[in-house]
Amino acid sequence: MINNHGVSLTEKPQINLGLEGVYFMESKICKVDGKAGKLYYYGYDIGELAAASNFEEISYLLLYGELPTTKQMKDFSSALAEERNLDDRVINLIKGVPQETNPMHTLSAAMDLIGAYDKSAENTSDNESTSIRIISKIASVVAAIGSIRSSGKYTNPDPKLGHTANFLYMLNGEPKPKEVVKLADTMFLLHAEHSSNASTFSGIVTISTLSDIYSAVVSAINTLKGSLHGGADEAALKMIMSGVGKDPDKYIDGIISSGNRIMGFGHRVYKTYDPRAVIIKEQLKAAIRNTDDRVKKIADTAFMIEEAAIKRTGQKGIWPNVDFFSGPVYSYIGIEPELFTPVFALSRAPGWCSHIVEYLKNNRLIRPTVYYTGETGRPYKEINGR
Ligand code: CMC
Repeated sequence: MINNHGVSLTEKPQINLGLEGVYFMESKICKVDGKAGKLYYYGYDIGELAAASNFEEISYLLLYGELPTTKQMKDFSSALAEERNLDDRVINLIKGVPQETNPMHTLSAAMDLIGAYDKSAENTSDNESTSIRIISKIASVVAAIGSIRSSGKYTNPDPKLGHTANFLYMLNGEPKPKEVVKLADTMFLLHAEHSSNASTFSGIVTISTLSDIYSAVVSAINTLKGSLHGGADEAALKMIMSGVGKDPDKYIDGIISSGNRIMGFGHRVYKTYDPRAVIIKEQLKAAIRNTDDRVKKIADTAFMIEEAAIKRTGQKGIWPNVDFFSGPVYSYIGIEPELFTPVFALSRAPGWCSHIVEYLKNNRLIRPTVYYTGETGRPYKEINGR
C-alpha cells in the first residue's frame, strides 16, 4: 500500500541510520561538496568570502540571499548594533546560574527568555527582523556569559563598534587590537553556515511544528552542544593539550587502539580536508608568528597530531574538520575553552535563522517514521501477577 506522498506503508523500508543520504527539502542557501572539499554560501566560495568579506556581510547574504549594497550594509550594521542591549532580567539570569553551569545551558536558557519577551517575533511576516535581533543578541549573551564567569562583571555594548569588535569588547571589558578582531571575525564567518547539519536540522524540525524562531534557535543551540557536533572544538583542544610533549604517533595510536575518536577529525559529508579547516590552519600559522609560548606550544602540537592522525585515517576519508584548529585559534584570541561552543553558536546563528525562515516559506510538519520491530497484542497482566 502506497500513501499519497509515494511512501510504502507495508514493505520493509530502507533505514538510513543517522538519516545519512536522506534528502528532505530543496535549498539555495549552502552547498557542501564533500568530495571536492568545497563550500559555498549562496554560491560564493568560502575561500573567497573568508579573504574578502566579513561576518556582518555574510549574515546579510544568508538572510536575504544577495550581497548588500553600501546602503543596505550600513542599515544592516546599524540594525545589528541597535539590538545589542540585554534586558536586566536576562543579565540577572546569567549572573544567577552557579559558576560550574555549562555555558551552553546558560546560553540556551537566556535565548529562550529573550524569546519569551520578544513580542515582535509574533509578526511572522518580518522573520528577517527577528533574525537580526537573534544574531545580535546571541553575541551579547555569549559575551555576558564569558565576562560574568571570569570577572563577575557585565559590560554594556558599544554601538560604535562593529559586531565582532563589540563582542570581544563586551567579553573582555576592553577593546581588542584590530588584527585580533579581524581573525575572530573570519572565524565567525567560517562557522556561519553549513547546510543541514544536526543543529540546523533540529531548528528546522522545531519550526516545522509552527513553534517560533527563538524556540527553533534554542533547539539548535542544545543540539550544537554535543561533542560529535559543536562541542568537538573544546574536546579537540583538550585532546591536543593532552598530547603536548608526547610522541604524536604513539599518542594517536593510543587513542585509536582504545576505540576512541580523534576529535576535530571526520565528517559526515567531507571525505577530504574540510575547506574551513584549511583556512583556519593558515590563520593559525600566521597568528602564532607573534604569539606567546603557551599558544605556540598548543599550535605546534596540533600540527604534529594532525600529521600523525592523517597518516592513519586519511585513506579512510577521515580528515581534519572545522573544529580541529579552532581551539588553538580561539586560545590565541584569548577565549576560554568552555566558551568555544557558545562562540560557535553565535557564529552559526545567521545560518540557523536563514534555514528556519526558508523552511517556513514552504512549511510541512517534519514527522519521520520508525520501522517497528516489537510485538503487538501482548496481554496486560495486573502488577501483582508479573
Ligand atoms: N576518529 C577515529 N575514527 C573515526 C572518526 C574519528 N574522528 N570519525 C569517524 N571515524 C570512523 C568510525 O570509527 C567508523 O569506523 P568503522 O567503520 O571502522 O566502525 C567510521 O569512521 C564511520 O564513522 P561514523 O560515526 O559512522 O561516521 P559519521 O559520518 O557518522 O561521522 C562524525 C561523523 C563527525 C560523527 C565523526 O567523524 C566523529 O565522531 N568525529 C569526531 C567528532 C568531531 O570532530 N565532530 C565535529 C564534526 S564537524 C563540525 C561540527 O559539526 O561541529
